[in-house]
Amino acid sequence: MVDQARGRMIRRVRLGPYLLEGTLSTISPVSVSMPARKKVTTLALREKKLNRQVITMLTAYDYPTALVLDQSGVDAVLVGDSLGMVVLGYENTLPVTMEEMLHHCRAVARGAKHALLIGDMPFMSYQVSVEEAVRNAGRFLQQGGMDAVKLEGGRERLETVRAIVAAGIPVMGHLGLTPQSVHALGGFRPQGRTAMAAKRLLEDALLLEEAGIFSLVLESVPARLAEWISQRLAVPTIGIGAGAGCDGQVLVTHDLLGLFERFTPRFVKKYADLHTEMQRAFGQFIADVQAQTFPGPEHSIEMTDDEWQQFLKDAG
Ligand code: KIV
Repeated sequence: MVDQARGRMIRRVRLGPYLLEGTLSTISPVSVSMPARKKVTTLALREKKLNRQVITMLTAYDYPTALVLDQSGVDAVLVGDSLGMVVLGYENTLPVTMEEMLHHCRAVARGAKHALLIGDMPFMSYQVSVEEAVRNAGRFLQQGGMDAVKLEGGRERLETVRAIVAAGIPVMGHLGLTPQSVHALGGFRPQGRTAMAAKRLLEDALLLEEAGIFSLVLESVPARLAEWISQRLAVPTIGIGAGAGCDGQVLVTHDLLGLFERFTPRFVKKYADLHTEMQRAFGQFIADVQAQTFPGPEHSIEMTDDEWQQFLKDAG
């Protein structure tokens, strides 16, 4: 096609889902035809491992973030109990309740329609009894719109995992640094760094797999240990601070976006600095309002002169 005004050659090229149009120097997308995305299932994660495709998971706690994550094509969205720290401002994850989790799960489920949705069972929702654990796990699916649950712990959780799985609820395990045990572990510290601790971690991973988990989060453990465990499990491992040898990676979204300023673990890569960007935007709003440059005419609602005159007459 030739641009009549300038006599330049206009090209149209299809690149994946994008239809691009323009001259060689101005080419830009004119349409996107994304193939309909299939809902991600626990089986799809297993297939990814078999096909050596890396799994991606991020956390979300609200509707807009879930919407963007889903559109970005992430495989799984975890409504983590990290909610307590990065959204609710608690010191650690221990105060988070079932009601708080379910409230945020529902918001995420309204936003993310394709990613596998996993709800994190909060402290004391699965430790007291197996019956209570099954009931609470069920609430994540029935009332929270989740597809699966995650819980922390190894050999001491096998009965609980088996019972939840037997109820038809997929379970993701979580080993290594398990934040709900922050006091027992003596702080947020890496795990599995001695030969004995590493062996125990591997044993726990194998036992959890036997109990029926569909996937396992490995948090803050040596990279070579995580890789070793990943190679021995049939179910996919998702690492956070566990090196590149896991079958997938997860980060807390607020860490990745630079939205949680209290501390940033060494294993986090910040892909944005939204804290600074929000400071800039809020500061600009305050300055505009104080300088009376906002709202401008383009942000204001008008009424006709006739209606205004009538109003003045009626109002006396
Ligand atoms: O609560 C959470 O966000 C988590 C991830 C760190 C895996 O458990």
